[in-house]
Amino acid sequence: MVGEGRKARAVIVGGSIAGISSAHALILAGWDVLLIEKTTSPPTGSPTGAGLGLNPLSQHIIQNWISQPLFLPNNTLPLAIDQNQVTDSEKKVNWTLTRDESFNFTAAHWADLHGLLYNALPPQVFLWGHLFLSFHVANEKGSVIIKAKVLKTGEIIEIVGDMLVAADGCLSSIRQKYLPHFKLRYSGYCAWRGVLDFSKIENSETIIGIKKAYPELGKCLYFDLASGTHSVLYELQNKKLNWIWYVNQPEPEVKGTSVTMKVTSDMIQKMHQLAEKVWIPELASVMKETKDPFLNFIYDSDPLEKIFWDNVVLVGDAAHPTTPHCIRSTNMSILDAEVLGKCLEKWGVEKVESALEEYQFIRLPVTSKQVLHARRLGRMKQGLVIHDRDPFDPKSARQEDCQDLQLRNMPFFNDVPLSFASITSSSSI
Ligand SMILES: Cc1cc2nc3c(=O)[nH]c(=O)nc-3n(C[C@H](O)[C@H](O)[C@H](O)COP(=O)(O)OP(=O)(O)OC[C@H]3O[C@@H](n4cnc5c(N)ncnc54)[C@H](O)[C@@H]3O)c2cc1C
Ligand SMILES: *[C@@H]1O[C@H](CO)[C@@H](O)[C@H](O)[C@H]1NC(C)=O
Ligand SMILES: *[C@@H]1O[C@H](CO)[C@@H](O)[C@H](O)[C@H]1NC(C)=O
Ligand SMILES: *[C@@H]1O[C@H](CO)[C@@H](O)[C@H](O)[C@H]1NC(C)=O
Ligand SMILES: *[C@@H]1O[C@H](CO)[C@@H](O)[C@H](O)[C@H]1NC(C)=O
Repeated sequence: MVGEGRKARAVIVGGSIAGISSAHALILAGWDVLLIEKTTSPPTGSPTGAGLGLNPLSQHIIQNWISQPLFLPNNTLPLAIDQNQVTDSEKKVNWTLTRDESFNFTAAHWADLHGLLYNALPPQVFLWGHLFLSFHVANEKGSVIIKAKVLKTGEIIEIVGDMLVAADGCLSSIRQKYLPHFKLRYSGYCAWRGVLDFSKIENSETIIGIKKAYPELGKCLYFDLASGTHSVLYELQNKKLNWIWYVNQPEPEVKGTSVTMKVTSDMIQKMHQLAEKVWIPELASVMKETKDPFLNFIYDSDPLEKIFWDNVVLVGDAAHPTTPHCIRSTNMSILDAEVLGKCLEKWGVEKVESALEEYQFIRLPVTSKQVLHARRLGRMKQGLVIHDRDPFDPKSARQEDCQDLQLRNMPFFNDVPLSFASITSSSSI
């Protein structure tokens, strides 16, 4: 219970983009925040992660959270254009399927965005190296009691809060307590990913070649479609090239808790050989010269019916595991946090459940549609069966079939609601 003169306290589990964004939004809403993350130290400055795209609204929200207005423009590159093209490696030809010149996203590196959000918060908010173990709701839903393990010492500690925010990712253990039968759904493909740092090889054949083949690197998000596969290429700040390559394959049998797989040098070699067959030599060279490429098996889930129970709420990938085809889930996480903060501010600490109800009302319809849209787009680009149409073949596709490839055709692309009022006013028109 929140007594006179005491601020309400939220415990956030997970210190990735959704968790840190929630910390910003809740502090602005007047809450005390404590964030538990099992990673032993902040990933700031490390090469962890790869590229991500931010839409104008996400950029605007972030600028409001942090105090350095120039930080975003300084650390991102424009992704002004969204382009889909076909590569026919047998006939050695390519052509453009769609081109959207007013896409207006920006590209950032995960570690830069994380560092930016992290450094703008007081360090005492964070408990690094703390593994969340369990929780229970107490005090007639007025509080939550969390157990966590301090990884360095093995000590188990108890933390009490007025609300629990689950930002613990697509495998969320907090969600599992309410939905014990929940399972992720395998997409049918995996993604090879990597970032090539070309700061020291700017004049190499590979870099000169790739810039010639993709002359708009630095402002264009390139999708290359071949038969039953596709790849993504764009440039990041500080002379980096980010690429992703989706490959259809059966679900891996590894039992574990991670959807990122350890790769052997043998697997990397096979990937390089296949790249030479599927892609133009310039793109294959970029893939071959990238150090430590990694492999993600792609999962999502059918939309959940609920994203809060009592005073426990899901944000980010915990609330809506998604495939990455609509530019991953980063901007969904940022919007979740923003809307959650605004709802808590509106209802005050005495009415947490009403605030969470409103958060769910605003966010669930949006994220549900976007997750299903991303699923469909991925299946289309991978040439897989889709229930209401023939498999998409980029080489024979008619112009009107290609429109679906454009990112701006996803639901709520330009008009994502941020408040209850914005929903009720638009539906009354
Ligand atoms: C290291 C890392 C690198 C990434 N790189 C990219 C990238 O390059 N491009 C991109 O588009 N997306 C990337 N992502 C994914 C991206 O952050 C998410 O898809 C999206 O932003 C939503 O994130 P999230 O915070 O909901 O979940 P996640 O990013 O999955 O974060 C969940 C967090 O919860 C923590 N956690 C889970 N269980 C526990 C527990 N029991 N106790 C304590 N902590 C726990 C995890 O350690 C993790 O930090 C990356 C994620 C991580 C963790
Ligand atoms: C692109 O987004 C920025 C905000 O990030 C905005 O200032 C600008 O007007 C937008 N440009 C176009 C062409 O929509
Ligand atoms: C951004 O870049 C400009 C010009 O290079 C520089 O003057 C400024 O200090 C930078 N700001 C931040 C916050 O990094
Ligand atoms: C597309 O074709 C042109 C002309 O043959 C070639 O120069 C270019 O490298 C190709 N680009 C891609 C991305 O396939
Ligand atoms: C994230 O970006 C997509 C476009 O890829 C945009 O439609 C969407 O509005 C953004 N996220 C959310 C949650 O709105």
